Order: sequence, then C-alpha cells, then structure tokens
Amino acid sequence: MLSAILIGFMGAGKTTVGKTWAAAEGLPFYDTDDLIQSHTQQTPGEIFAEQGEQTFRAIEHQTLKEMLAVSKGVLATGGGIVENEANLTLLQTTEIPVIYLNAKFGTVAERLMDDQTRPLLQTQSFTDLAQTYQRRKPKYEQSADREIVVDTLSPEAVVALLHA
Ligand code: S3P
Repeated sequence: MLSAILIGFMGAGKTTVGKTWAAAEGLPFYDTDDLIQSHTQQTPGEIFAEQGEQTFRAIEHQTLKEMLAVSKGVLATGGGIVENEANLTLLQTTEIPVIYLNAKFGTVAERLMDDQTRPLLQTQSFTDLAQTYQRRKPKYEQSADREIVVDTLSPEAVVALLHA
C-alpha cells in the first residue's frame, strides 16, 4: 500500500514534500502529472491545449485509480484532482492516508507568479484563480485524513510533522 497521497492546490509543495519524504524513507515517489506525461508523451499543458481539460481529467482519474493498487511509495497528485467527483470518493474510501498540504492563497500565488508551465495559469486571471482556490478548498478538506498548514514550513519540516 502507498504510504501517503498528497493533495492540495498548485504551488502548495506536494511534489517537493513527496520527493523529500520518499527519499527519507527509501520509497519510490510518484506524481500523477509525471505518470500522465510518460503515459501520453504529452505534458499536462499540451493535453489541456490540444484535447481539453475534460480529457486530462479522465486520464488523471484513471491514473489515480491505478496508483491506489501500487504496493509502496508516496504519491503527489495534481491540484485539480478534486475536480472530479469520482476522485473524491476514491480519496475518501481508500485506506491510504490522504494528506492535504494547505497553503494560503497568498503563498501559492506568490510561488506561481512567473510559472509558464501550468495550464490554468495561462487561461485564468488572478481573480479566477482565487475563486478556483476557494471552490476547491472544502473538497481538499473533505478528501483528506490529515491537513498540514505549510505556509511557513520547509519541505523537511513538513516531513518531520508527518512522522510525528
Ligand atoms: C492542475 C494542477 C497541476 C496539473 C495541471 C492542472 C490544476 O498540478 O495537474 O496543470 O487544475 O490545479 P500541480 O498541482 O502539481 O501544479
């Protein structure tokens, strides 16, 4: 069984924390965006642009489902994993601990300011993004077994808390 599934908004540090944790435990690290990219040979940005968000969400759902059966590792998910209702059910019913990395909108906005790779940042205004953040927040909360407020914490400090 996976040791944890990390969820949270873009820029919350899911990938960095997941990699740090997996390295400390000697476990494989997985990231749904990377898995999608190696499976489709396209970046999430390319899939969004060429096939649309719904196609990306369908592939993302399939990827999450497959990862629930993996024997060991730490999984970071894309920030939009909670957009698909079926994923909420998967996250709520799995025995794998689901951890919500909660960063304030101001924290993620600052981190994402110059990001050219995330498709939502190409199409959404700052106000749209703030609305997306607010809309998703309760979904992360409902899906998680544990929440860590990460704004002021280094990845190592988050991992130390997860071990505590
Ligand atoms: C998305 C977040 C991205 C990626 C895709 C869509 C989102 O993952 O899955 O660009 O809808 O929030 P990160 O949270 O790792 O940036």
